[in-house]
Amino acid sequence: MTKKIRVFSGIQPTGKLHVGNYTGALSTWVAQQDNFEGIYCVVDLHALTIPENVVPAKLNEKVWKAVSIYLAAGLDPKKSDIFIQSMVPEHSELAWILNCVTPMGWLNRMTQFKAKSANRENVGTGLFTYPTLMAADILLYDAEKVPAGDDQKQHIELTRDIAERFNTMFGKVFTIPEPMIGKAGARIMGLDDPSKKMSKSVGEVTLYHSIGIVDEPDLIAKSIKKAKTDLGPVVVYDAAGEGVRNLLNIYQAVTKETDDQVKEKFEGKGYGFLKKEVTEAVCEVLAPVRQRYLALMEDRAYLKSVVNKGAEHAHLLASKKVSQVRDALGISFSSPNLEKAFFLRKELLSKTR
Ligand code: TRP
Repeated sequence: MTKKIRVFSGIQPTGKLHVGNYTGALSTWVAQQDNFEGIYCVVDLHALTIPENVVPAKLNEKVWKAVSIYLAAGLDPKKSDIFIQSMVPEHSELAWILNCVTPMGWLNRMTQFKAKSANRENVGTGLFTYPTLMAADILLYDAEKVPAGDDQKQHIELTRDIAERFNTMFGKVFTIPEPMIGKAGARIMGLDDPSKKMSKSVGEVTLYHSIGIVDEPDLIAKSIKKAKTDLGPVVVYDAAGEGVRNLLNIYQAVTKETDDQVKEKFEGKGYGFLKKEVTEAVCEVLAPVRQRYLALMEDRAYLKSVVNKGAEHAHLLASKKVSQVRDALGISFSSPNLEKAFFLRKELLSKTR
């Protein structure tokens, strides 16, 4: 048997997960489950970089919702590791170390930081060093491939640069990961404003902006009905404006039909027909996900057992990697008494949520 490719990816437990997250990330993770050794994380530490996300009870609930959506989408805990980033303390530890080998100039170039920090009065240091935490996520597990949206490409390139720099300075410790970016044409835009990408955060506060993965079918139908189209009355496939193009893209992303099939189906047809077909296709895929999600949200004990198992395996891999890193840096100090403190922390944690 050939060795499976190690893959790492994560989604932040913020905003409302939408159909673009499903077709661009989750469904591809699920489709590749048998070929990859997948490690899939709910990145709650990343969520801390935006102050509004840190409403404790809400954040906690959102993490469980994200775990449920991973499972409802079809990730199988027997095939992949599923866990919560903060359960494995090595993520924070390695992020610090990587901060110390990452030139500020590299982080200054990150377009996502520029976008997220614009128009904000309080920008935490964590938002600036967000990409080094993401690099830690990936490098801890020797991930060879990182499936992500095209907006994450720059962060993955940076991860490669950081890994190469560390390896040159301190010896070969890290595997250099490769981005695995979905088709650019599959970019799904907001229903209310098809000039901008469909957004988890906008979708949370703006009705009819997005198609939530676990939205009620009625809401999905209504949102698509209200979606912006073009001025003309019928679909002209090769000259579709951004609204119609977006609906065609959503249809294609969920049905996986070819360009020709989509063109043949909709060419010359009215927008009412297009919207009806898109609604049906989306609901056919998402309605069962919603059903499973609702059942999973009632079974916290099961969710906990899944992330416990995932975190246990992740922790094993991560602690090996961090000991290599510490050795390489000359800081491998440990004390047997620390075991006791770890045990105490575990006890205290289990008494909370
Ligand atoms: N930054 C990613 C996003 O916002 C989430 C993420 C965190 C991630 N760590 C990662 C994605 C590691 C891939 C690999 O979408």
